[in-house]
Formats: sequence, structure tokens, C-alpha cells
Amino acid sequence: MLKIGIRLLFLLLTISGTIEAVCRDTETCIERIKKIVTEPRKFWFAEQHCLNRHAKSFECGGPKQLENFHSIGTRLFRVKTYHSAYLNNLAIFPRVTYRASPGHYEACEHQFFSGNTSAVEVDPDMEPVDPFRIRKRPEISWSDLHFDDQYTIVFTDVGYGTLNYLAVDFPKNTKVLKEYEPTANFRSSPNPIAVIIFRNNGREIEKPKSDEDFDLNSFMLENQLADDLVGLSIIISGSDPFAIGKQKLSGKLDYCHSLLLTKFSHPSSRQNVLQKLPLEEIDSWITVSYEQEHLSANVCCQKVKLPRKRVTLDPLGDLSISALATKLPPTVLSLRMTSNQESNGNYHRQTRNNYVGWSNLLFSLAIVDENHGHLHYLQVDIPAVNLNIEKIGGITKAEYLALIPKKPSSCNSYVFLLFSHSHPMKSLPEFCSSWCDQRRQFKPDLFKQQNNLRLSAFSTVSSCYDLPYAYNVLMHDLKQNRSQEQIGYKRGENVDFFSTVN
Ligand SMILES: *[C@@H]1O[C@H](CO)[C@@H](O)[C@H](O)[C@H]1NC(C)=O
Ligand SMILES: *[C@@H]1O[C@H](CO)[C@@H](O)[C@H](O)[C@H]1NC(C)=O
Repeated sequence: MLKIGIRLLFLLLTISGTIEAVCRDTETCIERIKKIVTEPRKFWFAEQHCLNRHAKSFECGGPKQLENFHSIGTRLFRVKTYHSAYLNNLAIFPRVTYRASPGHYEACEHQFFSGNTSAVEVDPDMEPVDPFRIRKRPEISWSDLHFDDQYTIVFTDVGYGTLNYLAVDFPKNTKVLKEYEPTANFRSSPNPIAVIIFRNNGREIEKPKSDEDFDLNSFMLENQLADDLVGLSIIISGSDPFAIGKQKLSGKLDYCHSLLLTKFSHPSSRQNVLQKLPLEEIDSWITVSYEQEHLSANVCCQKVKLPRKRVTLDPLGDLSISALATKLPPTVLSLRMTSNQESNGNYHRQTRNNYVGWSNLLFSLAIVDENHGHLHYLQVDIPAVNLNIEKIGGITKAEYLALIPKKPSSCNSYVFLLFSHSHPMKSLPEFCSSWCDQRRQFKPDLFKQQNNLRLSAFSTVSSCYDLPYAYNVLMHDLKQNRSQEQIGYKRGENVDFFSTVN
């Protein structure tokens, strides 16, 4: 009983603790909101990224039509100078609460888990919240809201200029004109989302033409809402893999590589090869997949099993694969938009310009041992479009050699490096077709430097000399012994797949 009492007390304390972080009464909250919307450059939207020397244009480019507006107020109303009259009628501070919903999700070929079990109370001074935690429509209420009231609710993403929710006749007879959609803030800077409440003026609200480019000003004009904006709150979102994955799924932007940069930002997380390469140069993601063949056998007293499947590398995790799966060269996919693959998104115009340049670039793929740089594969002069369709189709300068660790029962890491260059590399001399010093002495950083290449993307995997692979070696030996018995010993018949680095 006492225990429950203490727990209750604790619960009450924590609840009051969370409420304390939120502005306390409607008046204070409204004052705070009125102040925040006027603050110039409180949020940097996209401009901040342009100051960074390594910024790619898609990182710094926001919606073109909003690029001159630097405060929430000017951005919302699309005016050069914000006037306090816009929010003269504020009387409501909507309490927006996102219920906790922890869970797993997949993004950028990796499984993520978000385990935070606390609810999110929206407040103009809140800490940026992960987009995953605000992916479901929140509860909205305020102090003197009555069940037979009728308000219009608008959510608009201030950074990206989109309409994220629109409901009318709330709460009496709520009709949703635009289903809730969470922000897809992929940039690391915090991004505000405005929750706007209009009182009912008796007119029927028309759904705006575009969700992608939502202009609050014309929405208010068309629906004669100028005097009816009575409530406002601001959700502040951060970024997370969920938002990055959402952008990628929508086909607009692939920003997954930023997660790799975070993972490998600490020097101790990189082995030799990656330490010597300027990882910050990367501007895209590569999806590397191997076709693993089915295997089912008994080796003395153990079952050896391997399902037939496509194995996609997970450089954000710690995936290990069987060396047996690396028998044949992998397929490589790296999305690059070219001018004829334009999306209709307006703010991607800048992105497009950036990508138009891609179509003239050539790419080279090198697969090396992460520790020593030993060269397993080199393809040069891969056209950009091939990377979009998983077809390497360049010029082979070093034949593929499978990723096999030296010692049985060990694993070894390998790196897949995608370089970009504007000049053809077809005159590069070819490497020997199996292991030789030339391959063992390969240095990716020197190769990059000497050939004036830019690092565009990378991936990694750990490949293991496991039981299935050992079984395969054994079977191979047996087969060779048999054929040697039959046709006599033939020297020099070395099958590349079964040779490891010496
Ligand atoms: C959960 O999120 C809240 C903010 O919404 C934060 O204050 C808290 O530290 C988070 N908890 C964990 C365990 O990350
Ligand atoms: C194949 O023959 C070699 C020598 O001739 C022998 O050492 C090896 O054990 C044989 N392998 C198998 C699997 O029988």
C-alpha cells in the first residue's frame, strides 16, 4: 500500500515536472508565442548550411519561395516585414500532446528503435523532438474548449512550407481535409511546425490546392479568415533516421549518408583505410547487395544451412555475412537524380540543378580490405545512370575476388568505395587477375589522390569464414582430389574464389 502510495506520489511529481517545463498559463504562453514568431534567425531553416564549406546545395536549399523569410512570422505569412497585427486575436494556446509510442522502424537499410516512453507536450521552448515520436496525430485541447465548438485546425511545417494537417469543425463534428503527416526534417537543425487555430466564421473551408507548397496567407484570404486566427502553438522537431528514411522513400532526397558520417565521426570507429580518407566528402548512399545461394548439408555432426536470399549490407549496423555469399560481385545502387527524373517538388529545384551535374560525372567502385587496403575489385568509368538501375557496367580494371578472411572462424571488414570523377579513367593499367603484390600494395587514399577523384559514397561489411564457407572449401578440395585422380595432377589451376590473401 505504502509502495503504491509512493509510486503515485512519484508519478504525480513527474507529471507536474513535465507540465512545469511547458509555459504555465494561456497568457504567458501566448506572449511567448508572439515573441518567438518575430525573432529573426531563431531558426536557421536552410540558410545556415550554406555557410558550411562542405555544404551540398541540397543541404542549404530550402523552398525557393521562402528563402528570403528568416523568422517564423515572415515565413508563415510570406511578408518582408512581420506585423504584430497578424496575431492580434490570439486568445487560445492549444495544448498539443503526442502520446508515447515507442517502436522499431527501418530506414537507410537499418533497423532503428526509439524507446522513449514519455509523452511529448508541445511548448514554444521545448527541446527538439525526434520526428518518429511525433509521427502520429496528437491530441489537441485547450482550457475552455467545449465539445460543441467548431474550430479549424491547421498544421504547417514552417521550414519546408508544407501543409501537414487540416481539420474543420473541431471538435463537434471533426472532418479531416488533410490527414496528419509528420515532418520529414532531414537536416540536423531544429525545425518549427505551427499549429494554427481558426474560429468558425460560418463559411465552408476549402482545401488548399497544394499540400507541398502551402501558403497560409492565400488560405486565409480565400476563406476570409483574416480576423479568425485565434490560436497558435509551435512544435519544434529535430531530425532522426525516421525523417531521413521518409524523405528517401518519397523519392525526393537521399540523405542517409549523413547517418554514416555520424557513425564514423569518431576516429576510433575507423580502421586504417577509412582513417586516411576524407569521409566528409561523401554526398550519397550506396546500397550494396549480394545474392546468397542456398546451402543445406551435414558436416560430421552439424547441420550447415544457408537460405537463398539477397543480402543487403547494413553499414549503420554491425552486419556480418558468410564469405560464401560474396562469391560473385555485388550489385550497387546509388540514387542520383538526373534532369529527366525531376520530381515535382518545388524546393527541389536546387537539388535538381545539383544533380543535373551528376549525369556528366563518371564513377569508380573499389572494394578493399578495411585494414590493409588490399584490392578486391576495381571498376572505373561507371556512368551515373547505371547506378540508378543497379548495373555497374563500367570497365573492369581489377577482376572481382571474393571477400574471404585469411583464417577459418574469423571475420574481416571490407570497404566499398564509390569515387566520382569528371575525366575518363580507361587508360588506367589493369591489375593482375588473382592475388599479386600489385593488389596487396593498393592504397585507396593514394589512388584517390593520384587520379584526382572525389569520394562520393562508401559502405562496409564484415565477411566471415564460417561453417558454410568451410564446408564449401572442403567440397571443393574433394572434387579437385577426385578429378586429379582421374585426369592426373594439373598445376596452376587456381580458382580465384577459393584463394585468400596471403
Ligand atoms: C524522452 O524524451 C523527453 C522529451 O520528450 C526527454 O526529456 C527525455 O530525456 C527522453 N528520455 C530518454 C530516456 O531519452
Ligand atoms: C586432397 O588431397 C590432398 C593431398 O593430395 C590432401 O592433403 C587433402 O586432405 C585432400 N582433401 C580431401 C578433402 O580429401
